[in-house]
Amino acid sequence: MQSKSISIAVIKRLPRYYRYLGELLAHDVVRISSKELSEKMGVTASQIRQDLNNFGGFGQQGYGYQVEYLYTEIGKILGLDKKNNLIILGAGNLGMALTNSTGLQKRGFEVIGIFDINPEVVGTSVRGIPVMHVNELEQFIKTHQVDMAALTVPKAVAPTLAADIVKWGVKAIWNFAPTDLQLPPDVVQENVHLTESLMRLSYKKKAAEEEKK
Ligand code: NAI
Repeated sequence: MQSKSISIAVIKRLPRYYRYLGELLAHDVVRISSKELSEKMGVTASQIRQDLNNFGGFGQQGYGYQVEYLYTEIGKILGLDKKNNLIILGAGNLGMALTNSTGLQKRGFEVIGIFDINPEVVGTSVRGIPVMHVNELEQFIKTHQVDMAALTVPKAVAPTLAADIVKWGVKAIWNFAPTDLQLPPDVVQENVHLTESLMRLSYKKKAAEEEKK
């Protein structure tokens, strides 16, 4: 399927479509109209049609969307039709939470190695995944298919560590450290900052309270 250049706003909405469609599939729903999908997701039907039209439109007039087909195609667009090997850098609270999350594996993200400097965790394993010393990182990256790296180390070490793994061949970084990484243009990054989300919640709460006054 040919996809034209897709806006980031649309790409940001695709994982949500994917999740809803996955739930429908799990409930053996075969097809759904954009109206039904819109009611479930709280997005307008026209938004859904517009979004999905970006990919040539998966719907048929009067029939709606074939759930499994749409789910599979969106999965392909998001690159979820193949397994992605992930390494976790920083085996602290967050790194462990990610490693223990079953959601990653369910979506095809396989944690193949965890790296840290703390002697108390190096040499242990989590869910059968070894925690190695960062000294072993270069060799590991050069001898394994590492598709992505999650950065869950303190802010102060994140930029240097990111530069190192990029030098050794990593092309995609899932950055949790509260710092903006300067990376070469052929390296992609996705920043996740829960506190920023919390600040947005704080703003919404404040705005809702002010509206009541
Ligand atoms: P933590 O202190 O529990 O874990 C950090 C781990 O990194 C430790 O195990 C430490 O030994 C390891 N480490 C330190 N230097 C290292 C190096 N050079 N190479 C490899 N490992 C190294 O901290 P926590 O709570 O897990 O947070 C980790 C990072 O994630 C911090 O930067 C924190 O600010 C950030 N964070 C981000 C959130 C978000 O929403 N993006 C939420 C919570 C934390």
